Amino acid sequence: MNATPLLAGRNLHKHYPMGVEPVLALRGVDVEIFPGDLLALRGPSGSGKTTLINLLGLLDRPDSGTLLLDGRDTASFSEDQRADTRRDRFGFIFQTFNLIPVLTAAENVGYPILLKAKPPANMLARSRELLAAVGLAGKEDTRPDLLSGGQRQRVAIARALANHPAVIFADEPTANLDSHTADTILELLQRLNREHQVAVVISTHDPRVVERCTRVLTLHDGEILQKGAA
Ligand SMILES: Nc1ncnc2c1ncn2[C@@H]1O[C@H](COP(=O)(O)OP(=O)(O)OP(=O)(O)O)[C@@H](O)[C@H]1O
Ligand SMILES: [Mg+2]
Repeated sequence: MNATPLLAGRNLHKHYPMGVEPVLALRGVDVEIFPGDLLALRGPSGSGKTTLINLLGLLDRPDSGTLLLDGRDTASFSEDQRADTRRDRFGFIFQTFNLIPVLTAAENVGYPILLKAKPPANMLARSRELLAAVGLAGKEDTRPDLLSGGQRQRVAIARALANHPAVIFADEPTANLDSHTADTILELLQRLNREHQVAVVISTHDPRVVERCTRVLTLHDGEILQKGAA
């Protein structure tokens, strides 16, 4: 690929202080995310997938190494700039859905839009449109506890799309779903990747997820093992 990467991590290191022996979660990872990528991040439990997603998504900072966003070094970003970047450029999907239980589906989707300095007047219309795009028309006023796991993840996906992100980070998005529902969620992510030109980075243990992606990175003990086409 010749395009400029949206995100480029170089020699990323991250440790967690744990008693006497710190845990070395990432030991010099190089990674690039391109516009429109559909990238699987695979590796056994503890290999560093979540840690890497947290760094790429500006949820956490590396100990050393550089992370460029659109070619700009993110080390110089203030906390506010990091938060604005997460809100305006990224979407996040988690294994446990992380919806706000007291809000309806439409309110959950509209929440990131509300957080913008100037939320658009058509916020509710946009929430409805996004819920329809993920197959949840008619569920706008339903709270998460009345939705199935697959439906909850669809709400989370709609929420991740709310501010037209460049990248969606999905950390084991199908781990809590049965295999049929998992497949439909992956199909949806694949379709949104194509139709919304949004890069999608999916961490997973599941070979079926890897099959649906166009690139795969394998992590092992905090290092990238192999790089290339899936
Ligand atoms: N907050 C933390 N404090 C201490 N150690 C941590 C913390 N988070 C992760 N680790 C350790 O860092 C290493 C990488 O963890 P990480 O969660 O990134 O792996 P993972 O590939 O996402 O695993 P899983 O597939 O189980 O989600 C592991 O050894 C883990 O125990
Ligand atoms: Mg993880």
